[in-house]
This record gives sequence, C-alpha cells and structure tokens, in this order.
Amino acid sequence: MVMSTPLMIQALQGQTTSRPPVWFMRQAGRHLPEYRELRAKAPDFISFCLNPEMAAEATMQPMRRYGFDAAIIFADILLIPGALGQKVWFEGGEGPRLGALPSVEEMLEKAPHAGEALKTVGESLSLVRAQLDPSKTLIGFAGAPWTVATYMLDGEARTIGKGERAAARAYAYSEPQKVAAVLDALIESTAHYLKMQQDAGAMVLKIFESWAEGLPDDLFETLVLRPHQKLVARARELGVTVPIMGFPRGSAVHAERYARECDVDAVALDTACPLEIGKRVQQIKPIQGALDPLLLRVGGEQLDRRVDQLMEAWGNGPWVFNLGHGVMPDVPIAHVEQVLKRIGAQ
Ligand code: CP3
Repeated sequence: MVMSTPLMIQALQGQTTSRPPVWFMRQAGRHLPEYRELRAKAPDFISFCLNPEMAAEATMQPMRRYGFDAAIIFADILLIPGALGQKVWFEGGEGPRLGALPSVEEMLEKAPHAGEALKTVGESLSLVRAQLDPSKTLIGFAGAPWTVATYMLDGEARTIGKGERAAARAYAYSEPQKVAAVLDALIESTAHYLKMQQDAGAMVLKIFESWAEGLPDDLFETLVLRPHQKLVARARELGVTVPIMGFPRGSAVHAERYARECDVDAVALDTACPLEIGKRVQQIKPIQGALDPLLLRVGGEQLDRRVDQLMEAWGNGPWVFNLGHGVMPDVPIAHVEQVLKRIGAQ
C-alpha cells in the first residue's frame, strides 16, 4: 500500500493542499471534560507532563474527539528550566513559579544532557506515534530561548504572566552578558531536547516564542532572531531533519524579516497579524495561523465569517489552519466542531 504524505507535512513542504490541515494550539486541555478527569489524577502539572502514559493520553484525547490533522505532544515549555537545574512548579490558578536561577556554569554543564534529562517526553512521543493514524502528524515542541529566559529570569520576582515581561526585558538592557549566557545555555539544551524528540517520533518541531511581543528592533534581533537562527543551526548540526516551525508571537511587524532571515521551515502567525502581512510571509514560507481564540468562545456567525476571511486570504496555501494563540478553558466543544466543518475537515 502506498502511504501518502500527511496533509500537514504537505503544507510544510510548500504544497497547496485541497483544504488546509488543521490543529489548535492547546488543543489538549481544560476545555475537554476528559482532560479535566485525567488531570485530577496527577499530583501536580509537572508530574502530569513527565508521566508518559498520562501525557500520551492527554495528547490523544483531542485527536479522538475531533480528528485534527496533527497532535501536539502534551508537555510544557517550562520543562527545560528543570533540566537546567532550576525548580519549576505550578500553583493553583496562578501560573508558573520558578526558583532561584542556577549559575551559568551549572546550566552550561547540564545543557548537553537536556534530551536525556527529559527522556520521559520522548517516551510520551513514542507512545503517541504508535497509536496515531499514519495520515496524522505528530508535533514536538520547545519554548524559544528568550521566552523561556523571561520565566527563568523573573524567577521569584513573581511578575510572571503580567505585562510585557518587563523584568526580563529590563535585565536584557542592564545585564546583556548574563542574558546572553542564559540564552546560550537555552540554545544548547533546547537543540538537544528537540533532537531527542525527533528520535522519539516527532515529525515536526515547533518553537514557541510567546514573548516576542513589544520588542524594539534591536532587541528583536538579539533576543529573538539570532537565538532562533542559532537554535535551528545547532539542531540541524545535531541531526534534526524534520520541519521546524517558528512562532514569534506578537511580532507581525517583523514577520517578513523573520521569514527571510531565519532558517525555520514555516512561520506561525498570531491573532493580531494582518491578513495582508500573512499573504506576504506566505510568498516566502508556509504559514500557520491565526484565528482569534476568543471567536472560538463566541461562536455563531462571527466565527464563520472570520474562518471564511482566513480561507479567502490564505486558502491558496501553503497554510496550516490554527488559532493565533491557545484554546481557552471555557470554549464550547460545538464551536471547535463548527470550525472543522466550515473548513471541510470534519
Ligand atoms: O498545545 C497543546 O495542547 C500541548 C501542550 C502545551 C501546554 N503548554 C500544556 C499546558 C503547550 C504547547 C504549552 C506551551 C506553553 N506553555 C507556552 C507557549 C504557548 C503560549 O501559550 O504562549 C507557554 C508560555 C507555557 C507556559 C505555561 N504553561 C503557562 C504560563 C501556564 C499557566 C497558564 C495556563 O494557561 O494555564 C502553563 C500551564 C499549562 N500548560 C496548562 C496546559 C494544558 C494548564 C495547566 C493545567 O491544566 O493544570
């Protein structure tokens, strides 16, 4: 039997597909009753992520319910600080908390072993790959160096989740060498982590730069563009061959430059990216995005209208349909199904 290339891989290879492949950021999570039931069995969120059976089950839940074209492995971008020796924990409803930043020496020493330290994520990937239909794509991921650094540097300052990561950004000005050293440790560890994920079964890798927003162009260059270039180059050097997708969230003004200068295979766009800019990026590389997650909560005609606008603007491809950010916990299941039907994926 001849196996055809999964739809999402076709799009990432630059092909125009009969309909856009579709998956949703944070498709596994609190909007699903089966997720909440599973989550209640884990002592805490990090243990949940590091339990291969539970993480594989959380990954598969939205696949069974919706039949998305891609599964994203259930994990978190904040596992890497743990592998570098920094304590991370989640407190009820408050988001992540991080302990004291390890020394640069300790982080650099641990960095090459990050894949090994997080090998349970690899076990989750292998478990999912074994049960995933061959027409579907399995996505592995990591946080981008700057985004993970903002959490690591905020540490006990407890500014996490608020504002524009002001504490970390101020630090990038006042302590550029320290920030560069943290970024280097993150580049090295993340490259090894991505390689391990590919070896375990990931077919695409995504780099989440959730805090690319609000950076002046010099900082965009030193904190986002160059670290992404280095990360992709290092991952390739270590043997990563699968497509790598970059998601510089909130930086539509830099999107074309990012697409041109950064060696990622595709660019994920966020909610606020104008359709026109998306079209221009699409001339350079395949794109992914960017339905407003709020519309998924609202539903109705407004939701259909925007799905149609996106189809009209980007439908000639190459394009992967997604949200501009993650699914919110209070999204009705019927609205997710409405989108899938509208684009002919269900
Ligand atoms: O997309 C998926 O379904 C795969 C799993 C996934 C999670 N986090 C699970 C998760 C992915 C890809 C992430 C990425 C992630 N984690 C990002 C980048 C994307 C983005 O949203 O910008 C960031 C910044 C984080 C860090 C993080 N993890 C925060 C700030 C929080 C708390 C706030 C929140 O949304 O709950 C988390 C927790 C988290 N990660 C949850 C899930 C399902 C919720 C925790 C729970 O269910 O108890």
